[in-house]
Amino acid sequence: MLTRHKIIIGNSQQMPELADGSVQLTVTSPPYPMIKMWDSLFIKADPKIRELWQKLEANGKEETVGQIYDAMHAYLGKVWKETHRVLIDGGIACINIGDATRTHNGKFKLFPNHARIMEICEKIGFATLPYILWKKPTTKPKYKGKGAFLGSGFLPPNAYVTLDCEFILIFRKGNIRKFQPHDRQRYDSAFTKQQRNEWFSQIWALKGTRQTTSELEKRTAAYPEEIAERLIKMFSVKGDTVLDPFLGSGTTAKIALKNERNSIGYETDQDLIPVISKRIGNTTGVQITRRVNFCR
Ligand SMILES: C[S@@+](CC[C@H](N)C(=O)[O-])C[C@H]1O[C@@H](n2cnc3c(N)ncnc32)[C@H](O)[C@@H]1O
Repeated sequence: MLTRHKIIIGNSQQMPELADGSVQLTVTSPPYPMIKMWDSLFIKADPKIRELWQKLEANGKEETVGQIYDAMHAYLGKVWKETHRVLIDGGIACINIGDATRTHNGKFKLFPNHARIMEICEKIGFATLPYILWKKPTTKPKYKGKGAFLGSGFLPPNAYVTLDCEFILIFRKGNIRKFQPHDRQRYDSAFTKQQRNEWFSQIWALKGTRQTTSELEKRTAAYPEEIAERLIKMFSVKGDTVLDPFLGSGTTAKIALKNERNSIGYETDQDLIPVISKRIGNTTGVQITRRVNFCR
């Protein structure tokens, strides 16, 4: 089946290229609030976050850290709202997110990003469905949030549990999706009994590592292709359109193409065009466009 793949270099807080109810599935992983590697992106992308950061440097107050966290989620929230608009009734949104920990003025704090996104998406009108925990094999245990357990890491009660799971949150817009009896595309997209048992259980202990080769690819913190593949096969049928509003290196588009789904991806970082092109660019049906009046 010939499918179409549109990569838009532009900000997904507004997706004027997409009509209401034109997408069946969203699979994505945003920059994670309060994770250091994404600080500079948020600061560059949003003047309010930049101002708050300057305020924090001046006042050092914990309250300002909370305002930065709120502002980062407000930034992502605009994308979740647009995602809701472009999904069909019964469309699904899968969001891969990790929680964060941070020590400020010697005080350790957890930032439960998954819970905040659930609250925001519920307010937008999504129904929250049971989520998946992606158990990552690599993270080392930490002591007081600082690195590996030291000697006293064997003594109660001051060590912290390691954040070695990420969340794959699953939301639905409106009612369950309806099909005609014996819909051909739907039956052609069936999964096996073994796949059903494995994929629809709550913990995915995926060994599949990130396919990072270049520095540029590392910067995107790409998720394993296996995650995108499972979600696309679980929640869409052949010929559907899959949206990734935070495309990064292009994993979602590559896997949509492989599985006979159309795709649309948004990415603000134009330096990633060669990475995305390398992964999916030379295929029939792929179009990479820079939004006119390109803005971050
Ligand atoms: C965690 S990475 C996505 C990784 C992706 N799943 C992959 O496999 O490569 C998040 C990406 O979102 C992009 N981004 C951040 N804000 C954006 C926005 N408002 N619109 C479009 N892209 C954005 C960043 O430049 C970054 O590449």
